[in-house]
Order: sequence, then structure tokens, then C-alpha cells
Amino acid sequence: MSVDILLGLQWGDEGKGKVVDFLAPKYDVVARFQGGPNAGHTLEFDGIKHVLHQIPSGVFRPEIRNIIGNGVVLDPVILKKEIEGLAKYKVNLEENLIISKKAQLILPTHRLLDAAYEKAKGEEKIGSTLKGIGPTYQDKIGRSGLRVGDLLSPNFIEKYKALVEQHKTILEFYNFKYELQSAEEKFFEAVEFLKKFNLSDSEYLINEAISFKKSILAEGAQGSLLDIDFGSYPFVTSSNTMAAGACTGLGVAPKNIGEVYGIFKAYCTRVGSGPFPTELFDEDGKRMQKEGNEFGATTGRPRRCGWLDLPALKYTVMINGVTQLFMMKADVLSIFEEIKVCTHYEMADGHMLDVLPYEIGDGSLKPVYKTMKGWNKSLNGVSTFEEMPLELTNYIQYLEEQLEVPINIVSIGPDRTETIIRE
Ligand code: GDP
Ligand code: IMO
Ligand code: MG
Repeated sequence: MSVDILLGLQWGDEGKGKVVDFLAPKYDVVARFQGGPNAGHTLEFDGIKHVLHQIPSGVFRPEIRNIIGNGVVLDPVILKKEIEGLAKYKVNLEENLIISKKAQLILPTHRLLDAAYEKAKGEEKIGSTLKGIGPTYQDKIGRSGLRVGDLLSPNFIEKYKALVEQHKTILEFYNFKYELQSAEEKFFEAVEFLKKFNLSDSEYLINEAISFKKSILAEGAQGSLLDIDFGSYPFVTSSNTMAAGACTGLGVAPKNIGEVYGIFKAYCTRVGSGPFPTELFDEDGKRMQKEGNEFGATTGRPRRCGWLDLPALKYTVMINGVTQLFMMKADVLSIFEEIKVCTHYEMADGHMLDVLPYEIGDGSLKPVYKTMKGWNKSLNGVSTFEEMPLELTNYIQYLEEQLEVPINIVSIGPDRTETIIRE
């Protein structure tokens, strides 16, 4: 059996959590391969809304093993809080959660460094979630990070102190004021708590699961336009959010990858700074934000909204080798009489592009839109593709033609049940 990958094709928050939870019954294992507590994945069922940050979204299905892979950066304090928050739902995490010993640890000083770097950038700040993601990946690549497996080492404290001393020197350089003691107390409490869980060389478990023909779903965080290599650099996150990241972030060989499910919203959103060609600053943008309840699941910040951007979506379908598309939040577009899709960019010299240029943030690029008739009525009660309003079917068909990949799931509400599958 192979590993299927589910990932976001835009700037994150496409609805990955909802779909992973929906698809989870088909899988034996759900595994996160990158990112960390910058993610906020929302799941809704039985009238309850859950937001997961580091725990994979298969956690509510008791038969599923959930793996936090080596590509993840893990904050023990946030993980402890998440696990404690789940206690009342009787999920057996001591048995069902496996944490890679090779996942990097986010230390309290990584969070301080994140804040110091953002402050120093001033107007040019990334709009980071300030969870310490960038500085932790920096230490990983710089070969000075600490990993989950180090927690079990008798000289963990010495390793910790040595790294924190380096961080303090940088914080001093930035003249960044901080208080560390209470954060460190919480960190060491959480470290002890973490030791109760299954810390393992999870690449063996995954490859064993593959050879025993178990089905595995790799759950991406963020989205391809936030990818460190292919996103809107430097306004990106610090990991490979694309399909290839699942191989390095879990220890899975490319030949073992099966389906690549690409998730996109029927429009676009972005939280934090950085270019966003189709961003709306008018009444339509405000209505989209309100109807879609577009506020960050991790930071509560309002998400910027705009029409669907086809050149960007074609690009992320290409770099991920997407085999199936899932379109989310179609219900949000029900409020519009007309729907727009960006088909091209008009460049400063007047020529048209339908690919993503190197520079999308210098104001030289103007989106060109195709306008389509909206369905402009509620999708409540629609449960099959056949029952969809004609205008929605037209929208889907047009996108499929453009993207050359079938849209096999359309989501029309946050609840698990509000999901339409192509039979
Ligand atoms: P993720 O980070 O990709 O898992 O997405 P988030 O959870 O951050 O953001 C998606 C938001 O949209 C959450 O509040 C979901 O509950 C909600 N959502 C997901 N699918 C749908 C949908 O089809 N319609 C509506 N209205 N909301 C949805
Ligand atoms: P999920 O998994 C949306 C954005 C931040 C910021 C940039 C860098 O819920 O889709 P970082 O904290 O990684 O240094 O922030 O990336 N960002 C996200 N935006 N959804 C996310 O995750 C995000 N994780 C990070 O807003 O612009
Ligand atoms: Mg999110």
C-alpha cells in the first residue's frame, strides 16, 4: 500500500483538518510531516469544533495511529496543552500518538528569537505566528538544534543550556528584552510530560506499515504558496509544505507515494504579510471574510480574502503532482450574484501571463478576471454532484478543464457531514 498525501494548494487554511478527519476512516495511519504549532486545523462534528495545532487530524478515530513525523518542529508546552484539552474526549493518545525522535524541539528562546527577528524587520515583517517556527528550522539546518530523542539523553540539560546561551547572545545583539524563567519552568514540565508518550524512530513504523499493506495519509500543514522554496519568498513559512516534504518529513521513498490530494478554497485567503494578487479591498472582500468566518485558527487574525487565482493554482497543482482536487467552502460563494476567477496576470508592459512570475509582490502585476454567473442560493441539503445548482457545476467544470485534474470532493460547510463526494 502507498502513502497518500493531503496538502493545501494556497496560503494555508484551505480546510485540511476537515478533510483529513473526513477521509480518516479509510486510513490506518495519519502522519504530519512538516510545520508545527503555526498550523491550526479545524474539525467539526457532533456540534463540537476542535482546533488541532500539532496533533494529526486522525486523532478522533480510535482505530487510527497518529504520527508526528521527523519533519515537524514540536513545541512541548503547546503539545501538553493540546493533549490535556483532548482528555475529555477520551482519545487514547498514550497508545495512538507516536512522536518521531527526530522531530526538532521548539525551545522558549526560539519563540523569543521569532519575535526579535520580526521586530527588527519592521514594516517588512513576515507576519509570523510567532511560534518559533523559523528559528527552530534555522537551528535544524544550522545543525545545532535539539531533537525529541535528546530528551532521553542524560545530558539533555547541558545540551539545552548550550543552545540557549547561543540564543541569548543573538537576543542581546537585537537588544531584545525578555523574561525567560516562567517559560522555562513550563518547558521542563512539558518535557517530563512528553516522556510518557511513544517517542520512536517513526520512519521504521511507517515503512513497516507500508510493507504490511496498511494505508497511510500524510497530512500537510500550511499551503504550497507558503513553501520555503516555491512560495512567495520571503513571505513564507520555513518548511517544504509541498508533496516532496512528505518524503523527507516522514522517511518515505518517492516510489511509495500514491494519491496527492490538493485542497483549495473556492476563493483565496491569506493571513500575515506578503503578496496576494487577487486580494479584494472592497465590499466583496469584506462579505467574503464575514461569510467565510475568515479569522485565523491559531492567532485569531483576520484573513485577507480574494477571488480564486488560477495561475497560482496551476503552479501548485504542477509542483505537487496533484492527482485529485478537493474544493472547499463553496457555500461561502453562495452570497455572490457573480463570481470572478483570475485567469491571467497583466504585466506592467501589457503582456499577459498565465504562469506565476518570479516577482509577484512589486505591484507590477494586475489580475485579469473571467466573470461567471453565481448560483446565489443556499447549498443546504445538497448532497450529490447531481443536486448542485447548474452555476456551481459550471464553475467546477471550468476549473477542472483549466487545472486538468478532477475535483472529487466539494465541501459546503464546516461540519463533517457537509461534504459532497463524486461517486
Ligand atoms: P486548515 O488549516 O487547512 O485545516 O483550515 P482551518 O481550519 O485553519 O480553516 C478552515 C476554516 O473553514 C475552519 O474554520 C473550518 O471549520 C472551515 N471550513 C472548512 N470547510 C468548510 C466549508 O466547506 N464551508 C465553510 N463555510 N467552512 C468550512
Ligand atoms: P495551516 O496549517 C495560514 C503564515 C503566517 C505567516 C507565514 C510565516 O493552519 O494552514 P510562521 O509562523 O510559519 O513563521 O509564519 O506563514 N502561516 C499560516 N497561514 N495557515 C497556516 O497553517 C499557517 N502557518 C503559517 O501567517 O504569514
Ligand atoms: Mg489553519
